[in-house]
Amino acid sequence: MRKDAKRDTKLAHSGSHPEDQSGIVNPPVYHASTVDYGTVANMQELRTDPNNNFVYGRWGTPTSKAFEEAVAELEGADRTVAVGSGLAAITTAMLAYVGTGDHVLVCDSAYTPTRNLSENFFKRFGVETTYYDPLIGASIAEQFQDKTKVIYVESPGSHTFEIQDIPAIAEAAHKAGIKVVMDNTWAAGFFFKPFDHGVDVSVQAATKYYVGHSDAMVGTVSMCGDNVQPVIDCLRVLGNNIAPDDAYLALRGMRTLSVRLKRHEKNALKVADWLASQSEIDRVLHPALPSCPGHDLWQRDFSGSNGLFGVVFKPASEASMHSFIDGLELFSLGGSWGGYESLVLPTNVTRTATKWIENAQSIRFHIGLEDPDDLIEDIAAGLKRLAD
Ligand SMILES: Cc1ncc(COP(=O)(O)O)c(C=O)c1O
Repeated sequence: MRKDAKRDTKLAHSGSHPEDQSGIVNPPVYHASTVDYGTVANMQELRTDPNNNFVYGRWGTPTSKAFEEAVAELEGADRTVAVGSGLAAITTAMLAYVGTGDHVLVCDSAYTPTRNLSENFFKRFGVETTYYDPLIGASIAEQFQDKTKVIYVESPGSHTFEIQDIPAIAEAAHKAGIKVVMDNTWAAGFFFKPFDHGVDVSVQAATKYYVGHSDAMVGTVSMCGDNVQPVIDCLRVLGNNIAPDDAYLALRGMRTLSVRLKRHEKNALKVADWLASQSEIDRVLHPALPSCPGHDLWQRDFSGSNGLFGVVFKPASEASMHSFIDGLELFSLGGSWGGYESLVLPTNVTRTATKWIENAQSIRFHIGLEDPDDLIEDIAAGLKRLAD
């Protein structure tokens, strides 16, 4: 495929090799551990060829390779590796660059299990973490130490949705020889081009919009140039491989990613705009709305939005919030997001470097592919329950 093909064209064709598989457009699902090398000479060649994935099931199969190729093309990476979950992608990327005595900077808005990596794991191995204000921009340089190895960015932030100035952070980082690792899940590798904005390693929970149907756990780590080998070396040690059926599902989901994302975006904007005008709502946290911190950066760096956003309620009792959530008919109460269905989740925000609205009742909505008017009606009934 042409290198300058547009996103939708890449999504339809990347990773597809019918010429190698009897003309069939989708890859076969290989269930594999053993690879028969045939001869010792062939074994030695396969094991030393850095571009060969097929040495042992854990190193990948033609199924995982097809998915990895498609993600790399979409994100503009030299190489993507697929792993068993988004969290596995995060830990693989971080562990590729840090060791005892190092220091990492993590945005205060990071996904909670990413914070757990620092609190419950890095600490034990003598890696120090400083959380920083996600809106810090180029001033991140004031937080650098000689031993700082990685700046972790997540934009928008989990639950609070601040958009970060990633080009400014990356410029400061690179001057000091520090790597920038990004959680690019929200943009699905589609609305934000990490490598055009200075990111060194982009991780995604492909569990969300790539899989798209809430039925598989998948992560990806994408990188360019000198960053390819450290991540692959780390992966080989950790053994975080992807299951073959999940690789197939994630690639299948990518074929319809663009149309699904556009519908999620349209539906979510309709619901978010409506919510913003409701008297029970204090704030809607949606990067495409001017009220979201960093909205101007979203306009500058992103090409769209998805179905996920947050809402902060005006003071309400816990019991009335439970009644709001429990009575919703079209929203499942559950974690994850990016599937076809609408979800709601009460959010607890942990902050170290910055303050978040205290004692606020807040929730996260994922707006699915239902008719948004039905969703609005369901939420409107919930808002009435708040007053009861
Ligand atoms: C922003 C973000 N990053 C990473 C993850 C982790 O992905 P997974 O659940 O596939 O481990 C999640 C999951 O909710 C997420 O929301």
